[in-house]
Amino acid sequence: LTRVLTGITTSGTPHLGNYVGAIRPAVAASRAPGVESFYFLADYHALIKVQDPARVQRSTLEIAATWLACGLEPDKVWFYRQSDIPETNELTWLLTCVAGKGILNRAHAYKAAVDKNRTEGEDDDAGITAGLFMYPVLMAADILLFNANQVPVGRDQIQHIEMARDFGQRFNHLYGEPAGKEFFSLPEAVIEESVATLPGLDGRKMSKSYDNTIPLFAPRDTLKKLIYSIVTDSRAPGEPKDAGNSNVFQLYQAFASKEETDAMRRAFADGIAWGEAKQALFERIDAEVAPQREKYETLIARPADIEAVLRDGAARLRERYAIPTLQALRAAVGLRDLS
Ligand code: TYM
Repeated sequence: LTRVLTGITTSGTPHLGNYVGAIRPAVAASRAPGVESFYFLADYHALIKVQDPARVQRSTLEIAATWLACGLEPDKVWFYRQSDIPETNELTWLLTCVAGKGILNRAHAYKAAVDKNRTEGEDDDAGITAGLFMYPVLMAADILLFNANQVPVGRDQIQHIEMARDFGQRFNHLYGEPAGKEFFSLPEAVIEESVATLPGLDGRKMSKSYDNTIPLFAPRDTLKKLIYSIVTDSRAPGEPKDAGNSNVFQLYQAFASKEETDAMRRAFADGIAWGEAKQALFERIDAEVAPQREKYETLIARPADIEAVLRDGAARLRERYAIPTLQALRAAVGLRDLS
């Protein structure tokens, strides 16, 4: 049995990058035979960036409704909220005590924050919380707690998964030798190359932090407006356009079949007008998300039902895996048996 696991941080409204990088491949993977899947709402992670409780709660509801609207079946997969599994936190501490600080110093998000401080002439760690620094350890706990083998994510998460492997391996080595006991299996990132970094409206990676996102379930007219606002170069209709360097083309490719993509590449070479390319992009995205958008609208209007699904998922998952796993790990490191 292969275990597939992925999470989304509940810090805002889900966007097209989350959909193509994580949600779409994860839902597809959950339907393959021989797969046990774990999909969750990373609300502990949200606290690193968001100190607005209402926003965390709203985002949790939106992301849960999004997973369900996109076809996740909560009776066939494990579907839960991270903070409903407190064992995650306990495992975070056990991993903290084996994680190399030097490895965390090299984490992209932390390094970017330090670099920003340096360019602004501040102290290296000004305004940086220990939460941001520890982010990869919490994420490793999410993954290792359930011994996930595959983690479908966008490219920005690869480094975190490599760190999870490192921490898991160290723990196995420290507590499993010489008996050769493996406490954790080591996860691998699963990346779909064509959509690994979906660009946003301004051409940078689509990201909540850059405020350049296209919400997955924006109403149709908003979706159209946003797509028409994507930044392009000033080449006129009839002038050949460079598909390889175009956000419009990259977004199109993430939603189109191979044949459609090839046809669009030719249209770019033939000098398609930007308006026409954007219209085709809008129609392609809308065709894919419209049915799910309708389900989403129904689901989001019933928050109590979503809450019940999440609580039920977490309660069953704790009984089945999280509590017994922590019992074994506590024993391995020399802590008292709580059972
Ligand atoms: P988050 O919430 O930033 O993003 C959720 C998922 O969406 C992917 N993604 C993208 N993919 C392609 N192009 C983009 N522009 C784009 N933007 C976002 C991300 O790569 C991610 O797969 N730390 C994680 C959440 C998390 C997690 C985990 C993931 C917590 N624990 C355990 C996997 C396993 C995060 O903040 O993702």
